[in-house]
Order: sequence, then structure tokens, then C-alpha cells
Amino acid sequence: MTAYMLWFANQYNGFRVSTHHFLCCLQEFESLASLLAIDYQYIEEPSDKVCVHCDALLNSDTTLIPRQPFILFTSDAADTQLERLMSRTVLARSLYELWTNSGDLQQFYDDLRHSPNTQLSQYRSASFRIQVEGYNRKLSTQTKVEKIENIAFLPFDGKIDLKSPENSFHLFEYYGNNPNEIPDKPFQILFGRHIGDSNRKNVSNFSLKDRKFIANTSMEPMLALLMANIAKVSAADLVLDPFVGSGSLLVSAAYYGAYVMGTDIDYLLIHGLTKPSRAGVKTRDTDESVLSNLRQYNLQNQYIDVVIADSSQPFWRTSAPTLKLDAIITDPPYGKRESRERVGSQRQYKIPEELVEGHIPSKVEYSLCDIFRDLLDFSAFHLKVGGRLVFWIPFDKSNTNFDIRSECHPCLRVISMSEQQLSSYMSRILISVEKFKEYTQMSDSCVQRTHNKFINDSQKYN
Ligand SMILES: C[S@@+](CC[C@H](N)C(=O)[O-])C[C@H]1O[C@@H](n2cnc3c(N)ncnc32)[C@H](O)[C@@H]1O
Repeated sequence: MTAYMLWFANQYNGFRVSTHHFLCCLQEFESLASLLAIDYQYIEEPSDKVCVHCDALLNSDTTLIPRQPFILFTSDAADTQLERLMSRTVLARSLYELWTNSGDLQQFYDDLRHSPNTQLSQYRSASFRIQVEGYNRKLSTQTKVEKIENIAFLPFDGKIDLKSPENSFHLFEYYGNNPNEIPDKPFQILFGRHIGDSNRKNVSNFSLKDRKFIANTSMEPMLALLMANIAKVSAADLVLDPFVGSGSLLVSAAYYGAYVMGTDIDYLLIHGLTKPSRAGVKTRDTDESVLSNLRQYNLQNQYIDVVIADSSQPFWRTSAPTLKLDAIITDPPYGKRESRERVGSQRQYKIPEELVEGHIPSKVEYSLCDIFRDLLDFSAFHLKVGGRLVFWIPFDKSNTNFDIRSECHPCLRVISMSEQQLSSYMSRILISVEKFKEYTQMSDSCVQRTHNKFINDSQKYN
């Protein structure tokens, strides 16, 4: 078994916060490892994977402490397999084969001197470079050079090549997470061989600035890719976004080879007829659509269709045999920048026969608890067993009742939840659930519990 260190990017640190029961950064890694059949074992079980604080998922009294910026694991996987994993992850930055992990400098020199890796012939004669980095402490160039000189005992005879070496080695000093209490000496000194970088470098190719068709709440490309990763989307999968909007989530799923489709209640938006969402632009182009977005990235062959439909209505075929979905990734409306509505009326009336054709139904408010319950039940029915639903819900920090771990649906289990701060009183939570058995209906008590969880929020977001 080889030891590895996966280093996370310093962005979306809320996804590394220790009060959460299920961490997104681990979840992205674990989802991709499972998708690519990579066996691994954590060297130190990430201690904050399970919350010790309270029954509620997010307790506003609890201090949020981001976890370490890396995880250590062992695996038998080949470098090429791990490179494939890295080519998809967006929360991680780089992966290293871990040679030493030491608590102080003297121990580090001893560990590195005795590391069996240093004796391997493939490293001894190959070109190389060594990079030094401090986490939570900036190291001057001179300090870095001194640290490299201090490990000149490494038996590498190859050429030093700073641009494109055959092997790149990295020395990390970890000074904890608290910028207000930076210790003189690092807590951990880690040394490893660079295996691969993550997919972050490609994220800017999907920038919303250059996207053909955007809406008011188009999802940032990084988060869209993250959702597809946690949903374990892979080539030839069938993926649905039932609140599709401008289709940002379909772009990421199609990028990973899935066939994609969506529904949305907003006819004008889906036909590119709403007011432009881009600042300073007066009119939309005539061909703005979800399909144009896919064309922009040469992904049009992955497009199935986008249908104008109300997600609260059971318009999908339910009689067996039905085609099961591999994943559902979606960002339902919060009622802030996109209205939450469904077809309905407060009054009972019958539309006269002659007006039925071309009738545009009236709409009523679609409450958060109804959206949540419908989405879970729809997913429990239409996903294949093992398929995942990954979605966002808005979260009011004053609602300490929120906790969907306890039986969100009899056929779905919660895989991960991570919070993204939107303001001091509001955030949104990225939730992933997996279907683990064939469909059975939600019990009345389960529906009631869902309702109770959201009742405060529904009043807030109205
Ligand atoms: C947060 S936006 C989705 C944004 C989308 N992810 C994107 O990248 O553009 C929510 C979408 O849900 C749609 N929506 C609202 N109520 C709906 C309903 N009952 N059925 C289907 N779509 C609905 C809205 O029209 C809006 O486009």
C-alpha cells in the first residue's frame, strides 16, 4: 500500500468545516474514488467526519473550525487511476505520494533519510525539482532555499529542472488553521512526490462571463462540476435537472459524458425571452437556450431535451417499465431571485371548452417544504438504485431544527451536506442523497417531519 496526501484548495472552506456531519470535500473524494473503483483507507480517519457537537446539523452556537487542508490515505491504485480521479476533482488542488509525515524538523530529517523511496533508482537519476510551501505561514524565498539546502542529503543525481522535471517533490509545513495564532514551529512537516493536479485549471473554460445563455441564478461552474462529481455522473449516464433554468448543471453533467435533460416552469426563460441577466445588455440573442450552452462547449450530442413543466405535477410516466435516471442534480428556486411557483389556483373553476386550447394556467406559491418533499419522492421513484440526487436548499441560520439525517425518505440515505454562506443570516446547503432500495411511498409521519423542518423557513422565505 502506498501513502498519499490529497491537498485541498483554499476556496469554499465552508466545505471543510468541522461541525458538519458529512463533509463535502471528503465526499467529493469518496464519490470519485467509488466511481473509479479506487480502494483506499484513511491513514487518520478524518476526526471531524462525524459531528460530536449536537443533534442538529448546524448549530449556530457552535464555532466553525475548518479542518486540515489535506487528507492522508493509503491505496494500491496505480498512478494513472489516481490521475483520473484528480482530473475530475475541483475541491482538491493536488495529490502527492506521501514519503514522510513528521511532527518536528529533526524527526523530518531522520524520516526522509530513512524513507525507502529516496533509494529507488527511478528517482535517483531523473530530473527533479523541490518546492516548499507553508500553510498559514508565508515563507520567504530565502527561507525556502534554506529548507531545500537542508535536505541536500537526498541521493538525487539527476538534473535540477524547475520548468518540467520528471519528478516534482514538495515539502509542506502545516502551521494550523488559525491565522491569529500562528505557531513558531509547524505542527506537521510533510514531504511527497507530486502525482497530479485537479480539474480546477479547466473551470475557467466554463466561466459564466462567456456563457451564451445565463439566467439570474446560473450556477457557478466550480459548484456545478462539484455537484456532478458528488452525484457520480459518468459517461452515458442519464441525468435530469427538474429546475433547469439556464442549464448550468446540465453543462457539467454533459462534460462528464452524461445524456442530459431538464424541466422548468418558466416558458419565457427557457425560450430566451426574458430580460437579459447580463449587466449592461439590453436584449438577448435570438438563439439563447440550454442547447446553445451545450453547443458552446461542443457537448450538443449529450443533449436530450428541455421541457416546460411544473415539477410539482406528476407528468412523468410511472407505469413499469420506466427508464431510471442515474442522477438528478438541481438547484430549486429559493423564492429570492427566482420565484417559487407551481401550477394551481386558490379558486375552484372550470375552464370553458373553447378556451382550453392556449389556456395559460395560473400559478400559486410552491413552498420550500413541498419542493423538498416532491423532489425527494420523485427521486426515490425515478432514480435507479444507487443513483444520487444532489441539490441545494436555502437555510436560515436561526432555524436550529434543521436536520434531515433522520429518515428523509424510506428509500434514500443522506450522503453529504455542506454549507455555503450567503450572508450573516442565510446560507444554502448542498445535500446529496442516494437511493438504496426500490421505491416505497413516504409515510405520513415522514411527510409531516419534512413539513416541520421547513415550516420556519417557509415563513421566512415567503
Ligand atoms: C435557482 S433556479 C435554477 C438555476 C439553474 N441551476 C441555472 O443554472 O440556471 C430555479 C429554477 O426553477 C424554476 N422553477 C420554479 N418553480 C418551478 C416549478 N414548479 N417547476 C419547475 N421549475 C420551476 C425557475 O423558473 C428557475 O429557473
